[in-house]
Amino acid sequence: MSDAPDQYGVVGHPVAHSWSPFIHGLFARETGQPLVYRLYDVAPEDFRERVLEFFATGGRGLNVTLPHKIAAVDVANELTPRAARAHAVNTLAARADGRLLGDNTDGAGLVNDLCDNLGVVITRRRILIIGAGGAARGVLVPLLALEPSELVIANRTEERARTLAKDFQDLGNVSGVGFSDIAEGPFDLIINATSASLSGDVPEVPTGVIAEESVCYDMAYGKTDTAFIRWAIGLGCTHALQGWGMLVEQAAESFRVWRGIRPPTAPVLAALRERALRL
Ligand code: ATR
Repeated sequence: MSDAPDQYGVVGHPVAHSWSPFIHGLFARETGQPLVYRLYDVAPEDFRERVLEFFATGGRGLNVTLPHKIAAVDVANELTPRAARAHAVNTLAARADGRLLGDNTDGAGLVNDLCDNLGVVITRRRILIIGAGGAARGVLVPLLALEPSELVIANRTEERARTLAKDFQDLGNVSGVGFSDIAEGPFDLIINATSASLSGDVPEVPTGVIAEESVCYDMAYGKTDTAFIRWAIGLGCTHALQGWGMLVEQAAESFRVWRGIRPPTAPVLAALRERALRL
């Protein structure tokens, strides 16, 4: 048997900006696990071949990020139920029999950050998700499992919200609407799952969705507040949070899938914030 550390990494395009090597490096140190974690910048046309080559040469696990999360579904030999529902894979793991398991830890990452780190209650609360793309789809299973009284998906393109809600209606009270049809009154939790923050935009949802005690969560994150966070704070929201915790928690869940150990996340989140703010 070789003493070489087990090989892991993240595959994306581009991927140079990824915090995953930093996060998994700290997890490995905290848990004493012998592994290396590298960046793999792979163009879409090479994705399948490069991933299969990585595992054929002894690689043990990969995180998958944009734009490959959907392509990774077809590379996996088997999907976890949460990855099958998400129609997207962010974690590939080599099983002992050589088959590739595809999982999706994004939703667990969000829920762990909200519930364990931030003390947000979801059960019997009104939840609004803004956006109906892959990011929204990926988090619906664990959110609905906590039985909110209502989960509204609001999207700029109403039809996408309706279709997405229909796909998950067996799991709870979920509906899909356009921005102008969001039911009146504040929501307890508002999650921005759009890609609008990446271009500095704010989805045009009615301001009445936010009250002072609402929790506003942007799945995006940045060195400074995202436009959505600034918008929420401007409307008097006192609990407006970016997705740094989700990033660390989804990574911890991937680490658990690979190594069977859940690493501590608080010191890693603190180190990540410190490092990111210093850049
Ligand atoms: P992802 O996988 O990141 O979710 P996606 O599938 O392209 O990416 O979905 C992007 C989401 O952000 C969609 O819900 C999109 O709304 P549309 O379906 O109407 O396109 C939403 N989005 C992007 N930019 C937005 C903006 N400026 N305002 C509101 N919604 C926006």
